[in-house]
Amino acid sequence: MKVAILGCGAIGGVVARAVRDGEVPGAELVGVVHAERTDPPGLPVLDVEAAIEQADLIVECAGQRALAELGPSIVAAGTDLLVVSVGALADDALLAKLRDTGPGRLHLCSGAIGGLDVLAAAARMGGLSEVRIVTTKKATTLIQKWMDEPAAQRLRTAVEPVELMRAPARAVTAAFPASANVAASVALAVGDWDLVEAAVVADPEAPLTSHVITAEGSAGDYRFEIRNHPSPANPATSGVVPHAVLAAVGRLAAPTGAFA
Ligand SMILES: NC(=O)c1ccc[n+]([C@@H]2O[C@H](COP(=O)([O-])OP(=O)(O)OC[C@H]3O[C@@H](n4cnc5c(N)ncnc54)[C@H](O)[C@@H]3O)[C@@H](O)[C@H]2O)c1
Repeated sequence: MKVAILGCGAIGGVVARAVRDGEVPGAELVGVVHAERTDPPGLPVLDVEAAIEQADLIVECAGQRALAELGPSIVAAGTDLLVVSVGALADDALLAKLRDTGPGRLHLCSGAIGGLDVLAAAARMGGLSEVRIVTTKKATTLIQKWMDEPAAQRLRTAVEPVELMRAPARAVTAAFPASANVAASVALAVGDWDLVEAAVVADPEAPLTSHVITAEGSAGDYRFEIRNHPSPANPATSGVVPHAVLAAVGRLAAPTGAFA
């Protein structure tokens, strides 16, 4: 399977080098599409048109905006798309374009969290009555462009955890596009954006990024606590995410009896 990587930052760089180095059986790197001033060393660089033409699969690691801008032309050209910035799919029109029109197929990466499979199963079995995700990250990684300077300064100087937002998943993933893709992942897994309540907590001390997911329904009660070390390249991203992407690429490239 010929693979191109869209976005060559903390996630895409690790994914591109691992695929280039043959670490994913059945997958071959054709190149990376990037938006930095200098090319990433040791990686073949393509423009997006060439990536669409040459790749069987484009792996989006570039952010919600890039996915919204470039995703539709990728699937419309018949190239499959694996998405890491799943929060962009809170836009129903974009989701429909990417998922329902093809001919390229849309695949979602579980990214920083797990448990999505059992949540999907439980939602199918009689539905879920409550679903919550509470994300706690190092305060300074949660500063957003829409925050005014006093609000940003409060995060820089916070001495104890502060809850920044608690709202339906759609609103939270839009407000924290680089940090709350996980809220969208849970909503997409259970098939209900309004049911999922998401909260974002800024913790000045947090050495790890945590996601606590709870759900209740007729199938049972669920609680997952995920505590990830931040990526050394981007503290807003967990270091495990590129490896979730590589696992997903591996499943698509060469099905071998692993969990789907
Ligand atoms: N699903 C999850 O659990 C999860 C977890 C972490 C991050 N993410 C998503 O992954 C995204 C990438 O994370 P990261 O840590 O690698 O970010 P990053 O900032 O380190 O890297 C993103 C790269 O994409 C490039 N880029 C942006 N727009 C582009 C475009 N139009 N074309 C080509 N390249 C473009 C940037 O220049 C940058 O190099 C985040 O923005 C977030 O939305 C998802």
